[in-house]
Order: sequence, then C-alpha cells, then structure tokens
Amino acid sequence: MTATETTIDWDRLTAAARRARQGAYAPHSGYRVGAAVLTADGRVHTGANVENGLLGLSICAERVAVAAAVNAGQREFRALAVATESDPPASPCGVCRQTLVEFTRDLPVVCVNEAGGRHETSLAELLPQAFRLEEARPEGGGGTA
Ligand code: THU
Repeated sequence: MTATETTIDWDRLTAAARRARQGAYAPHSGYRVGAAVLTADGRVHTGANVENGLLGLSICAERVAVAAAVNAGQREFRALAVATESDPPASPCGVCRQTLVEFTRDLPVVCVNEAGGRHETSLAELLPQAFRLEEARPEGGGGTA
C-alpha cells in the first residue's frame, strides 16, 4: 500500500484546497494557490498564498496552512492537498517541502488543478534525504554555539 492509498478523504481535502485558493492575495503574480492539511485529530486546516510588493516576502499557501494547523495545536500531519491552475498540477516549492518536513518525515500529497488534473506524490518523494536538525546534530549535543 502506498502512502496515498490510506483511508484519507481526498475529495474533502482537495475541495478544501480549491476553496482556500479563492482566498489568495496574489496581485503581483496573478497565480493563486490553495492548500489543505489534514491533521491527526481529523481536522482540515487551509491556507492560500499571500503576496507582498517586496516579492520575496510572499508566503506560500502550504506554509499558511501549516501555520494554521500548528496554531490550532496540531503538529501531526496526515495528508496535504494543493490546488493550482497549472497543468499538470503544480507541487509544493522547496521552502514548503522543508517546512513540512519539520513536522513529518513523510506525508501523502495530492496536487490538483481546476481542470480536474490530479497528481499523487508524497513528501518523501518530493524531498528525499531531507535535513532534520535532530538527526543532523552530533549525538546528544546541542552544539557549542
Ligand atoms: N506559491 C505557493 O503558494 N505555493 C508554492 O508551493 C509555490 C508558489 C505561490 C507563491 C507566490 O504567491 C506565487 O505562488 C507565485 O510564485
């Protein structure tokens, strides 16, 4: 069984990501993204991208959704859906992959678009050999700095 074949209600999660996309603030790129994270308590937390005229400050939909989940007290993630208008559906950027890996080594991910396109993947596939501080730090150490 692959990570995406578990009992996750993907229809619910992708619908939430599509709905969230409508809340994007993307006047600079015109590219709207929605994301929905399913947490261990069964709740769905959503986000959309929020841009800034200082373009590097723009926040991706996935990180908005992760922040919403964490702020709601949830740190165990079960699944992620991402909605864009890209064809094929776009997958999370590198920064968002690293943000997700802070909380979970692996996670089923489904990327969808408005035309019905769907791409199934996983965090481990998107970010192999990820950096995790607790694994990178020397045995028992908090470092010397
Ligand atoms: N964006 C996301 O929201 N998620 C991603 O994974 C990639 C990019 C947003 C950021 C920016 O507002 C717009 O898409 C164009 O880069």
